[in-house]
Amino acid sequence: MQQINQQRLLGWIDELGQIGAIDGGGVCRLALSDEDKAGRDYVVGLMKSLGLEVKIDRIGNVLGLREGQEDLPPVMTGSHIDTVRTGGRYDGNLGVLAGLEVIATLNDLGIQSKRPLGVAFFTNEEGSRFAPDMMGSLVFQGDLALETALAVRGIDGTTVQENLQRIGYAGDWISEGQLVPTAFVELHIEQGPVLEEETITIGAVQSVQGISWTEYTFKGVSNHAGTTPMRLRHDAGYAACQVASFLRALAEKVGDDQVATVGRMEFKPNLVNVIANHAVFTVDLRNTDNEKLKFSEQQTLSFINELCEKEGLECSSKTLARFDPVIFNDVLVNRIESFAKELGHSVKRMPSGAGHDAQMLARMCPSSMIFIPSKAGISHNVKEYSSPEHIEAGANILLNLLMELAQA
Ligand code: GLV
Ligand code: MN
Ligand code: MN
Repeated sequence: MQQINQQRLLGWIDELGQIGAIDGGGVCRLALSDEDKAGRDYVVGLMKSLGLEVKIDRIGNVLGLREGQEDLPPVMTGSHIDTVRTGGRYDGNLGVLAGLEVIATLNDLGIQSKRPLGVAFFTNEEGSRFAPDMMGSLVFQGDLALETALAVRGIDGTTVQENLQRIGYAGDWISEGQLVPTAFVELHIEQGPVLEEETITIGAVQSVQGISWTEYTFKGVSNHAGTTPMRLRHDAGYAACQVASFLRALAEKVGDDQVATVGRMEFKPNLVNVIANHAVFTVDLRNTDNEKLKFSEQQTLSFINELCEKEGLECSSKTLARFDPVIFNDVLVNRIESFAKELGHSVKRMPSGAGHDAQMLARMCPSSMIFIPSKAGISHNVKEYSSPEHIEAGANILLNLLMELAQA
C-alpha cells in the first residue's frame, strides 16, 4: 500500500483556507466571487506545479490531467472549492486537494499509470449563490445545457456568464458530455454526525439522497402594525413562518430520513412596524426514498395553497433544484470498503445526506465517494473540522483506489 504525505496535504488545506478566510476559521468563497477566483488561481497554480495539463471548460470547471502510458479515458477524482457564505475549510476543498496529493505522491514515486488521471474542481457545487447546486458537474456530464446554466441569475441579480467572464474563468474547452471518465471517486467530509458517533473512520458511500429546492414568493398587503386588526391582515411574513414550522412537523411525521429546511427568508419592507407585504423563502426537502420525497413535496404544496387562500396572499414558486436519489457503483463501494480494511480502518457503508458532484458523474461513469468523519457532525459552518489522521486515512484510500483503477 502506498501512502500520501499528510503534512503536504494539510499545508495546502491551510493555504487554501486563508483565501476568503472569515472569523472563526472558516471561509467565504461563494461561487464565481473574487474570493472564488483567488482560490481557483491558487489551485490552478498547484496543478501546474505538479505538471498537470490544465483545461478550463465553458462553465468554468477546471481539470488537471496527468498523462497515462496509454491514450485512454482518464480515471477522475475531484470536488469543488466554492463554499457557502459561512463555509468551512474542508467541504469540497479536501476532495480537490487530496486528489492533487495523490498526483504529488505518484510524482514522488515516479509512477506513470496506464490510464491518465484527472483532478477536477467543478463550478458552483454549493448552489447558494446560483441554483441549481452541482451546476458545473451537471453541465460537464451533459444533462444541464450550457446556455441554461450561463443564464442563471444569482441571489445578487448577476448571471453566471457575467461572473465567469469577470473572473476570467470562461474557458473554451467543450467538455459537455464529451469526456467520459473510466471512473470517478470523490473524497469528502461526511458533514454529518454518523461516523463520529459510531467511531468509524471511513464511510463507503453507496447512495445520495434526493434533493428538492423551491423558492416561494408570497405577496400580501403592507399596513400599519399597530392599527390593523389581526382579522384584516394579509401578512406574507406570518405565512412564510407558518411554512417553516409546518415543515418541521412534516419531517417528523414522514420519519427519520426526511429532512426539511427553510434556509433563506427575506421580508419586504422588513420594518418593525409594517406588516410584510412580501416574503421570499426557500424550502429544502431531502430523502433517500424518492416516493417519500414526492409525498413531502405534495404535502408542502397543499399546505401552502390552503394557507395563502386563508390569508389572502398571492403565491408563486420556482424550482431551484430537483434531483432524484442516486445509487453509486457497487464495485467501487466494495473496493473502498476493502481498501479501508486493508489499511486498518473501520468502515461502514452509508448514504450521503449532502449533494455532491459525484452524483452527477454517476450518470456517466462508475462513481462513488469516500467519507471521513466531521467533528460533531458540523458543516456549512466555520467550525467544520476533520482530524489530520482521518484526512490521511481518506486520502490513502483515494490514492490506492485511483492507482488500481488507473492500472486496470
Ligand atoms: C450542497 O452541498 C448541498 O448538499 O446543499
Ligand atoms: Mn461539498
Ligand atoms: Mn457544501
